Amino acid sequence: MKTLYKNADILCRTDAGYTVIKNGFLGVDGKFINWLSDKKPVEAYDRTVDVTGKLLMPGLYNCHTHAAMVLLRGVGSGLPLQEWLFDKVMPIEDKLFENEIRAGSELAVMEMISCGTVSFSDMYFFPEATAEVVSASGMKANLNRPVQAFDPNEKPTENRRVKEALALYNKYNGFADGRILIDFCVHAEYTCNEDVTRYLSDFVRERNGNLHIHLSETRREHEECKKKYGKTPAKWFSDLGAFDAGAFAAHCVTVEPEDISLLKEKNVSIVHNPTSNMKLGSGFAPLKDFMDAGINVALGTDGAASNNNLNLFEEMHLTSVLHNGFHLDPVSLNAESVLDMATVNGAKLQRRENCGSLKVGNHADFIVIDLHKPHLTPCLDVPALLVYSAQGSDVCLTVCDGRELYKDGVFLTIDAERVYADVRRITEQLYS
Ligand code: NI
Repeated sequence: MKTLYKNADILCRTDAGYTVIKNGFLGVDGKFINWLSDKKPVEAYDRTVDVTGKLLMPGLYNCHTHAAMVLLRGVGSGLPLQEWLFDKVMPIEDKLFENEIRAGSELAVMEMISCGTVSFSDMYFFPEATAEVVSASGMKANLNRPVQAFDPNEKPTENRRVKEALALYNKYNGFADGRILIDFCVHAEYTCNEDVTRYLSDFVRERNGNLHIHLSETRREHEECKKKYGKTPAKWFSDLGAFDAGAFAAHCVTVEPEDISLLKEKNVSIVHNPTSNMKLGSGFAPLKDFMDAGINVALGTDGAASNNNLNLFEEMHLTSVLHNGFHLDPVSLNAESVLDMATVNGAKLQRRENCGSLKVGNHADFIVIDLHKPHLTPCLDVPALLVYSAQGSDVCLTVCDGRELYKDGVFLTIDAERVYADVRRITEQLYS
């Protein structure tokens, strides 16, 4: 199937920055973009879609979330982190099994595609259920089986989660025509012992895998690690070989200058989650230092219990204003850099080649923004408009690998009413 999207303003990324092709044409052949120009292609397309008055841009990457936590949206809001986690979140999580995770993942996928996300990096239990949901939905995801080992003496071969992580990788890596990639995950330094972390790191290195971790999210976590091991969490992970293949670290709020140098040296990407960090009172990640060091920085929402949505437009907006405010410097971070974080940097973190920007030969992963709105008029500076003014609800079309997933409020691959009914039934049971 070949589809031509015509009369669109198309946001393209060049070495010199972002440019907009006015009234352009974007052709899709199967999964890939095969035409991108202000001129009409000569070849015929099976189908033409008129997107006059709308902006076509790359789809967004949510590089750190716990998708099915949408079932806990709003739970424990306003509590300190420890009470939020141990008294409110964990008792509900103990009641989540495959059916609950499936329904939660479906709702999360709906939320993400309806506000412009084409791919996410997840960290949650029962990832097989999430893999099946993602496969059916048409979007992309990097999934993993999070490994934890609270008992300091637990051996890697005794750890059920390690076995499940390996089985998940063998079964689902490259699944759904490559839309699903399986990463590995050590949940965090404070939830995993050294032997298990070293063992899993060896496995990741042998397979040139990609490791997803939480790193230095809070001052308490960071300082307790130094007290326990005499080193920072970043150094702890690095010394256990965790950064010897691909790795990406969520948060990094309380990292030290030596940690930043180490993360750069080891080519570790960082996922910035500003809403979660602000909501849980964790602090301001030193984003400017990451960028000055040349680290690949992407964006994440974290789970819906600490956000409380999965809307990357909010993360772009907050990122762009937060750090300028913190540094008392209106030029410390520009809109184009923030757009990069939500698109190409995310694709790089997920190791998805030919993704994250619009050009011929790249995957046809794009979204369309309806500009016919008061808050998007006039459209004078497109990156600024997208980062400072646009809302997730301005997305009117989401396309992934050439397939339309969401159009004008309608979910084309998911039975939305069935999902709402499932989630209502499940939440009644969880909170009764
Ligand atoms: Ni998280």
